[in-house]
Amino acid sequence: MDAPRNMGTIIRTLPHYLSNLINRRIEAPLRKLENKVFYFNKRSYDDNYCHNDEHSNSCIDACQICVTWDKNCTRPFDANNPFLAQIITNKELHKGGNRSCLHVEFDISDSKMEYEAGDYVAVYPKNNSRLVERLGELTNTDLSKGITLANKGNQITSYRTALSHYIEITALPSTDVIRKLAEYCSNESDKNKMLLMATNSKEGKTLYKSFVEEASPNIVHILEDIKSCRPPLNHICSLLPHLQPRYYSISSSPKLFPESVHVTAVVVKYKTKSGRVKQGVATTWLAGNKPQKGEPLPRVPIYIRKSEFRLPQSMQTPIIMVGTGTGLAPFRGFLQERAHAQRNGNEVGDTILYFGCRHRHQDFIYQEELEEYEKSGLLKLNLAFSRDQADKVYVTHLLEQNLEQIWNVLGNRNGHFYVCGDANNMAVNVRDIVLKSIREIGGKSHQDAVKLLNNLKSTKKYCSDTWS
Ligand SMILES: Cc1cc2nc3c(=O)[nH]c(=O)nc-3n(C[C@H](O)[C@H](O)[C@H](O)COP(=O)(O)OP(=O)(O)OC[C@H]3O[C@@H](n4cnc5c(N)ncnc54)[C@H](O)[C@@H]3O)c2cc1C
Ligand SMILES: NC(=O)c1ccc[n+]([C@@H]2O[C@H](COP(=O)([O-])OP(=O)(O)OC[C@H]3O[C@@H](n4cnc5c(N)ncnc54)[C@H](OP(=O)(O)O)[C@@H]3O)[C@@H](O)[C@H]2O)c1
Repeated sequence: MDAPRNMGTIIRTLPHYLSNLINRRIEAPLRKLENKVFYFNKRSYDDNYCHNDEHSNSCIDACQICVTWDKNCTRPFDANNPFLAQIITNKELHKGGNRSCLHVEFDISDSKMEYEAGDYVAVYPKNNSRLVERLGELTNTDLSKGITLANKGNQITSYRTALSHYIEITALPSTDVIRKLAEYCSNESDKNKMLLMATNSKEGKTLYKSFVEEASPNIVHILEDIKSCRPPLNHICSLLPHLQPRYYSISSSPKLFPESVHVTAVVVKYKTKSGRVKQGVATTWLAGNKPQKGEPLPRVPIYIRKSEFRLPQSMQTPIIMVGTGTGLAPFRGFLQERAHAQRNGNEVGDTILYFGCRHRHQDFIYQEELEEYEKSGLLKLNLAFSRDQADKVYVTHLLEQNLEQIWNVLGNRNGHFYVCGDANNMAVNVRDIVLKSIREIGGKSHQDAVKLLNNLKSTKKYCSDTWS
């Protein structure tokens, strides 16, 4: 196992052409060998992760992600070699309403993985098994048959494993996919409709909008709706994108939880314009995998992705955090860090949080923890419940009333400002308010305010961690 690592060191010191040659001729075969060794090692482990697949006992062609449940594994866990973590806690955070937000804890005690508050955890989801089986039925394919996945280094696996772990079967089909599927329509009118949808014409775009963007079909819906379209499953597998890991802001601090990472995930479930109910792959899988008494803990492949969303070095530096909904996640980790420092007798600077959710009594997540921090004097808490009164109240409304505080922290006291959550509107509005504070309280021109904000961003004093 040491050979490729030593080789890597040598390669870095060699001229480019030589390192290329060595990489192709020597390293690549060694890596292949390394993979094989892992596959064979895998056989000696009783792998719960695969227990629904046909691979549980003869795992040579099981999903690559299973191989890493080797406590003696010396490779660092990363995107290609994720850690199969146990889910030790998985509970509902919402107290009412019809949405669900999960607090999930992954055990990383055997992994040697380390994290810092503000990092992300990447979770490899598994597709809904009903959808996978339905694809087998619709294409008349025995899912235990083997398939070679070219984009997984020609890995041999079964259709069932490929469709469960490697292929995004719920992705919206692109026009390119629609065009290729059209070739398999035995009915001319179905074929023409699909070909039209894939064109750039006005009519084609309108059709694509209503059939794909508004109805939001996945590949199973398409095969169910267009009955003459019957592509072979191996072609479907090559058309659909790779199943990507989902990232979650870690909502814990290693100071308090060195052996687990926590995530705060809102379960994605929505109705499309056409009335179809859609469910998110990862969050629906997580929601269905709660630890049950007397049963083995659920396992899921994860790895840690480092971020630049970091607390200032000094605990005395004042900070303002702005988060909506699950945007509270990384701030829970920050608060744990500062509370830990305070408990250890360190002086902690102003710690100000603006948190927004819909209703105080429904989705005010981690309410008790936040109120406790406030009571202990650690936290200055500003709350915006958008739907508890006739007019919306957002974190941005509260921030707007506190322009002096923003300038005081950022302009006068060398503090840090963080924003996390919705990338589309909230983060943009918050940025505009910070600019307004720099202009109106800091007395800068608009141009200088933009320059100052850019400078704060590049020195990591203004950090934004948003997704849409
Ligand atoms: C850096 C980063 C950090 C993140 N941190 C968190 C976090 O802490 N907590 C958290 O909950 N999420 C977080 N996310 C989002 C998370 O990664 C996933 O995207 C999310 O959980 C959905 O995954 P899924 O597999 O359940 O849904 P998917 O199967 O991926 O479906 C999601 C897709 O459904 C569509 N969609 C979702 N809602 C609607 C809607 N209402 N109307 C129409 N279409 C919709 C969108 O196209 C969306 O991309 C983060 C994302 C990033 C990039
Ligand atoms: N890609 C995904 O699948 C995925 C998954 C999770 C989250 N997200 C995104 O991440 C964000 C947070 O999601 P969430 O479910 O945790 O939050 P959420 O409950 O939808 O929203 C949290 C709060 O933010 C408010 N808000 C809406 N627009 C705002 C604005 N411009 N400025 C300030 N506050 C605003 C909301 O008010 P109102 O709703 O009352 O207007 C609500 O009170 C959402 O934008 C969501 O789209 C995406």
